[in-house]
Amino acid sequence: MKMKIAKLAGDGIGPEVIEQAVKVVNAIAERFSHEVTYTEAKVGACAIDETGSAYPESTHKVCMESDAVLFGAVGDPRFDNDPTAKVRPEQGLLAMRKSLGLYANLRPVETFEALIDRSPLKNDRVSGADLLCVRELTGGMYFGEKGRKDNGDTAYDTNIYHRYEVERILKLAFDYAGRRRKHLTVVDKANVLESSRLWRQIAQEMAPKYPEIKCDYMYVDNAAMQLIRDPKFFDVLVTENTFGDILTDEASCLTGSMGLLASASVGEHTSVFEPIHGSYPQAAGKNIANPLATILSAAMMMEYAFSLMEEGRVIRQAVAASIAANFVTEDLAGENITPRTTSEVGDWVADYIRNRK
Ligand code: IPM
Ligand code: MN
Repeated sequence: MKMKIAKLAGDGIGPEVIEQAVKVVNAIAERFSHEVTYTEAKVGACAIDETGSAYPESTHKVCMESDAVLFGAVGDPRFDNDPTAKVRPEQGLLAMRKSLGLYANLRPVETFEALIDRSPLKNDRVSGADLLCVRELTGGMYFGEKGRKDNGDTAYDTNIYHRYEVERILKLAFDYAGRRRKHLTVVDKANVLESSRLWRQIAQEMAPKYPEIKCDYMYVDNAAMQLIRDPKFFDVLVTENTFGDILTDEASCLTGSMGLLASASVGEHTSVFEPIHGSYPQAAGKNIANPLATILSAAMMMEYAFSLMEEGRVIRQAVAASIAANFVTEDLAGENITPRTTSEVGDWVADYIRNRK
């Protein structure tokens, strides 16, 4: 198969972790005789520095003309403590999601047995937890009308949702639940928010069309608690943009490291595959960041963008093997384990894919 991949490394540790995913994709291409080409494009702070825009038109064109986007991270401390900054790196990510119509963000949370002791939760709670968070990605407060009034002393962000936006994300969530353990939890704040009541109303209209799926409803505050108290309760969890942002950071802790959580953003145009951790500027250039979330995002890319299930499985197996062999970066290395560098881990996983069958 021919794969045309847009490489948007972005800021901070983005370039380092993307390089490891590229090694892994190349190893897969060799082993399975695929042909891969990469086109690099700028996004985030590095794009602002070069063009003034966090998601320049030229980058959008590259994304539109590719089969998949491998995305690193955006963010830069230069902007973080400056609430007056006119352009911000994060706008690049949001503009990309919006212009590519990526309304669904899929964040699977799986635990690795070898890492169970790294989880802040007790083993019996977390062992075997396996859930898929489906986060709506192009609506809600992130994109609703926002602004200031009263000389800047009043600020607002509008949490707006249209029926078609809710229907399409719920449909996708029901479909994924149908392919998994057939349990969908719709997370909202319908006791307070009108937008949540629309979500719940539409979910209740749709549920009878999926009789094989057990659909339940949970308020977001309770969901935040249940994710810690009983993560195994969840199979597919679907929610709106802001709640999904917060709950997936929380859920990432279950696995023991945020450095393991991959994601796929899918919708109308080219899908984007990215780790859920951010740009981790403190580690940039130090060759210490965990590349596994990005490598696992490449596995999702094989499956979601190219329907190459075996290739995805082989990447996951290689990642699991590196963890089992304790060949990991410092965030995962326990007390008596030598931490490896970002590029050493990338090389190990790529070698495993090439040589161990
Ligand atoms: C994420 C990130 C982004 C978000 C930021 C960087 C804009 O936190 O992908 O979860 O809030 O969506
Ligand atoms: Mn986030």
